[in-house]
Amino acid sequence: MENFSEISPGDAIKYLPLPVVIVTARKGESMNGMTAAWISQVSAKPPVIMVAIRLERYTWELMKDTEYFGISVLGEGQEDIAEFFGTVSGWDKDKFKEMEMEPFYSEEGIPLIPGSLAAFVCRKREVVEIGDHLAIFGEAIKGWEGKGDNPLVWYRWNVTGMKSD
Ligand SMILES: Cc1cc2nc3c(=O)[nH]c(=O)nc-3n(C[C@H](O)[C@H](O)[C@H](O)COP(=O)(O)O)c2cc1C
Repeated sequence: MENFSEISPGDAIKYLPLPVVIVTARKGESMNGMTAAWISQVSAKPPVIMVAIRLERYTWELMKDTEYFGISVLGEGQEDIAEFFGTVSGWDKDKFKEMEMEPFYSEEGIPLIPGSLAAFVCRKREVVEIGDHLAIFGEAIKGWEGKGDNPLVWYRWNVTGMKSD
């Protein structure tokens, strides 16, 4: 095709602009959050999303036997949260304590990230093992809106702020 140079399929899919979120989970007194960009809406009625998580994540350890998880949509100014929650593991550290972050809690006790553009709590539905990730489907059962305007976007392996104007 003219103007196209062939690249690997794996490199081509890196051109998908993806949102940057924090997936949060809680099992008893243990809670955790991790950055995720491999996330998408898959149904409007009911509102269902899919997030792809590697099996070895501590977040999955908390999610696998529990019913609910949280998604906080990060906006401009939250790059440090995206980086910390995406490079440090809950297997080693309490990320909320390390960041001195007091989360907002849903009725289900799920922690959500303060200052996010929006946040919602999902009831876990199907989990499909596919390639090197688990595709976890969750139905959003409660939602909140925050104050910011511009989402953080994962694009070609970098986090960038996406301007709305
Ligand atoms: C911008 C960004 C996006 C990420 N997206 C994902 C993702 O979609 N799925 C995943 O399993 N890991 C993803 N990661 C890696 C995890 O966030 C990282 O391994 C984290 O330390 C896991 O934490 P945990 O072990 O406490 O669950 C991402 C990291 C960054 C920085």
